[in-house]
Parts: sequence; structure tokens; C-alpha cells
Amino acid sequence: MLGFKSIKAALLISMLGFMSLVVSAQVNAACSFVSTKDGSPLNIKASETDTPQAKEFLETCINPYTKAYAADPTLITQKSPKGGKALFGYNGCSGCHGGKLEGVMAPSLRKDGGQGAFDTKWVYAKHVTDKGVFETISGGSAGVSGGVMSTWNINLPDHVGDGLTNDEILRLIAYIRTEYRGDGEKAWLK
Ligand code: HEC
Repeated sequence: MLGFKSIKAALLISMLGFMSLVVSAQVNAACSFVSTKDGSPLNIKASETDTPQAKEFLETCINPYTKAYAADPTLITQKSPKGGKALFGYNGCSGCHGGKLEGVMAPSLRKDGGQGAFDTKWVYAKHVTDKGVFETISGGSAGVSGGVMSTWNINLPDHVGDGLTNDEILRLIAYIRTEYRGDGEKAWLK
């Protein structure tokens, strides 16, 4: 027959097991990203060099710059660190999307009309969230509109040139959101 002590020990062990489950669930609560190309996981984890804003995003999937830029437009043209507008020109995004985001050889990001089928709506439905746009700028896209986005995130292999940090991508997204002139509600401001 089991003694009192061994029952207590068994209880203790199962409680410890349960507690470690809870702890590991908390660790896994961080935002997980998938490739817009093929749905495979994108290996983007917070690191020492990430800013507090990037760490917050990687934990919650919410881009803190989006509301900050909406509330304070001076952030858009900030000199240092570069605001989203400067990053957009500096990295050549404007070469394809246009200096006013109106769409040149790539879809408009303003969504207020143009020549192409995707100048009034997002190419990928998930782009109503900053997480979705982060996945496309980070890991590239599948080419639904006829052209593709390259891989930009410095944490991923085969990124363009010097690549972009998580923080830079988040500032770019916040800027793109301030330029939106399309229909519907701005889900990203909720
Ligand atoms: C060489 C041309 C090119 C460059 C440079 C480029 N893009 Fe794109 N981008 C595209 C194309 C083409 C698409 C559509 C992708 C698809 O259909 O899969 C796209 C899609 C996007 C989308 C999603 C648009 C939508 O309507 O859903 C965003 C956001 C975006 N790009 C942001 C950027 C940013 C930010 C940069 C600079 C870091 C950048 N792009 C640089 C060509 C480019």
C-alpha cells in the first residue's frame, strides 16, 4: 500500500509538472509569424539588440508605432532614428510603390485608386493587420499581384542588401498606415 509520504510526493510532483506547463505556455505566448510566400514559419525572435518597441511587437503582435504615428505625425518625418517616411525613400520602397505610395510598378499602398486591381484593396487580406504586413515585408511574398516583394528582415537568410531591423519594418508600417486613404475602417488603429 502507498504510504502517506509517497502520496504527498506524487501530488507534489504532479503539481510541479502542472506549474511548468503553465510557465511554458506563457513563454510560447509570443507572436509567431508565417511566410506570405508559402505559410511556413518565419524564424523571427526577440534579441538583445531589439528596441523596446520591437520587443513589445514580437510579444503582442501589436505595432506600438502605428498608434503613436497617428497621434503624433511629427514622428513620420523624425530625423533620428529615421521616421518611416525617410526609411521608405532610403531603402528604395518608393522606387516601386511611388514617392507618395501611389503605386508605380507595384500596388498603391494608399488604396485610393489607380490602374491596378490592387490599388484599392490589399493584395493579401491579412494586410489589415500590422502582423500580416510585417510578415510580407519581412519574408517576401508569393506574387499574387504579378510581382513579388523581396525578403527584407535582417533576421532571415537571403534578405535584400543590408536588410531591415524589426524596428525599421515597424516604423515603415506605421508610416504606410498614416497614408491610407481607402475605404473601410482602419482595423490597425483598434
Ligand atoms: C522591386 C519592387 C519593390 C520594392 C523595392 C518594394 N516593393 Fe513592396 N511590393 C512590391 C510588389 C510587386 C508587391 C505585391 C506583392 C505580391 O503580389 O505578392 C509589394 C507589396 C507590398 C506591400 C503589400 C501591399 C498590398 O497591397 O497588400 C507592402 C506593405 C509593401 N510592398 C511595402 C514595401 C516596403 C515597406 C518596401 C521597402 C522596404 C517595399 N515594399 C519595396 C514591389 C516592391
